[in-house]
Amino acid sequence: MKVLFVGDVVGRPGRRAVKRFLPGLIDECEIDFVVANAENAAGGFGLTPDMSDELMDYGIDCITMGNHVWGKKELIATLETNPAVLRPINYPDGVPGRGETVLPSKSGTPVGVISVCGTTFMDRLCCPFKTASAAVDRLRKQAVIILVDMHAEATSEKVALGKYLDGKVSAVIGTHTHVQTADEQILSAGTAYLTDCGMTGPVDSVLGMKSSLVMKRFLTRMPAKFEVASGPAALSAVVIDIDSAMGKASSIERITRRETEEQLISP
Ligand SMILES: [Fe+2]
Ligand SMILES: [Fe+2]
Repeated sequence: MKVLFVGDVVGRPGRRAVKRFLPGLIDECEIDFVVANAENAAGGFGLTPDMSDELMDYGIDCITMGNHVWGKKELIATLETNPAVLRPINYPDGVPGRGETVLPSKSGTPVGVISVCGTTFMDRLCCPFKTASAAVDRLRKQAVIILVDMHAEATSEKVALGKYLDGKVSAVIGTHTHVQTADEQILSAGTAYLTDCGMTGPVDSVLGMKSSLVMKRFLTRMPAKFEVASGPAALSAVVIDIDSAMGKASSIERITRRETEEQLISP
């Protein structure tokens, strides 16, 4: 079966790119299951319940989050009730929501998904390696195919988690740094891996935010409120082909779809 994994959706331009490109990609690539990281979908920080529903309507089967999961507090109710919206699994016990799930693909195959956050140059959550590994052991009883969103800053931590879970999951895909890396590969025991899936958001920006505001913060070292940039957006994703019986990946291909200026004038 083919899985599409979509990188961090940023603001209105990111949601517009999902709407514009996702349904066509699902048809064109015969996608059976779609995961998207949506931690930046609401104005760059967090996700609202309405936007979660909107993204699902475009064809996303499972939404993962990251360090911005608490950006919109109204999402907490969704995290507690909707098994298709995940927060990072390695928060301490008692935190609302879940970080692992099993959902049916479009053709009915059970697919396990785990959202996990790195801890290098990020909040000190519980160990991503041990937490994700324990979740794999639980999900394995219900699903042959397991996908992991490794939301992390440090390349080394992402590569290490990919190797650590090689052969135990179908894919480890990195998110959070918003720039797609070119190291897609099938690891030696059959896990598809990419260090960062990239961003689904405005191209003329610094990681989705208005460039002038980010530069101001770097130049002055003073607090500056960021805003999502405008203009044409790109959707960044990977298509992973997975053997449904064994759970091993056979291919991983990076995909980008970019809006034109003309499409924004006459949508
Ligand atoms: Fe992000
Ligand atoms: Fe993030």
